[in-house]
Amino acid sequence: TTKQWKVTAEEAAPETLAEPASLLKKGGTVAFPTETVYGLGADARSTEAVAAVFAAKGRPSDNPLIVHIADRSQLEELTAPPEEAVSRLLDAFWPGPLTVVLPARPGVLSPLVTAGLSTVGVRMPDHPVALALIAAAGCPVAAPSANRSGRPSPTRASHVLEDLGGRIGGVVDGGEAGVGLESTVAEYAGGALHILRPGGVTQAQLQAVLPDVPVVGASAGLEAESLPEPEAPRAPGMKYAHYAPQGAMLLVQGEDPAAVQERIRAELDAAKQRGERTGVFTYAEHAHLFAADHVAVCGRLDDPASVARELYAALRSFDEAGVSFIAAEACPAAGIGQAVMNRLRKASGGNIRTV
Ligand code: TXA
Ligand code: MG
Repeated sequence: TTKQWKVTAEEAAPETLAEPASLLKKGGTVAFPTETVYGLGADARSTEAVAAVFAAKGRPSDNPLIVHIADRSQLEELTAPPEEAVSRLLDAFWPGPLTVVLPARPGVLSPLVTAGLSTVGVRMPDHPVALALIAAAGCPVAAPSANRSGRPSPTRASHVLEDLGGRIGGVVDGGEAGVGLESTVAEYAGGALHILRPGGVTQAQLQAVLPDVPVVGASAGLEAESLPEPEAPRAPGMKYAHYAPQGAMLLVQGEDPAAVQERIRAELDAAKQRGERTGVFTYAEHAHLFAADHVAVCGRLDDPASVARELYAALRSFDEAGVSFIAAEACPAAGIGQAVMNRLRKASGGNIRTV
């Protein structure tokens, strides 16, 4: 069984996290809140512990894990000294939702963590529970998002238990994650900063700290995370994982919001005709424009941070509602919206209409 502890940000301290920390020390797997999403942690030096993380998630072994630290001094043990441009980023964004990919020091981390690469992604999360837990465990903590591979990432402890209950040692419930989507993964190479995965720190924020360095955004097909497997034939009532909700999702985008909404209504009508159970993914301002069996309202367009925060819970809600067809309304891909659109594109499996 999976142990559970409730520790709020205010209660975070070595004493309140002693049990989960000792589980980590003993090579166990413990899920914990960060400011982005919940992570599934294990001692990054222990191959046995890290193997248990891959097994619990059903994660392909060629996808490397991010290593989490609580103190900048831990970086020296793990990687070669960062270049000056990277140091500036760490000064500006740590603790926070930025993962930097650096050359790994050989022989420190389990080779499973880096999936055989010579580099490692490291980040210092900005969450009191995560920081206290990592400090109390006294080791670098490898932690992918705490979902079954292929499912939306967890932003609540209940999401973790939905996916991994019974498969992991424990979960620290620290309430809802703040940003709601994962960290930005970036690598400095050849005099430029390359965004491998858009996330909590925007391209504009990175560029502002590095005005003299080209910051290269992730284009649609070039993220660090691999695209979903082609969808297997769906058996009635059978739950199986892909990156997104179980229903087929169509993402509709375009310059003119009215045209996008018109197209979504037409797609929903056609789906109803086919006998589908329909869902629509939209925003508070537009919820009244659509009729579907399930309307998922993902934050407010005039508050992009709320869209990011509610994204994964909204995607998960389609499975709870048993929806078989989803039409999703794109949001402006500016600021944090760039990361939101990246996740929506993946959730749709590339099933996108531009009107
Ligand atoms: O916000 C986050 O980053 C969350 C929380 C728990 O910290 N973690 C997270 O981990 O999203 P995960 O495993 O779901 O995603 C890690 C991403 C993957 O896209 C992986 O391919 C990439 O980081 N990554 C890790 N190490 C890498 C490396 N050495 N080179 C390139 N990409 C790497
Ligand atoms: Mg993940």
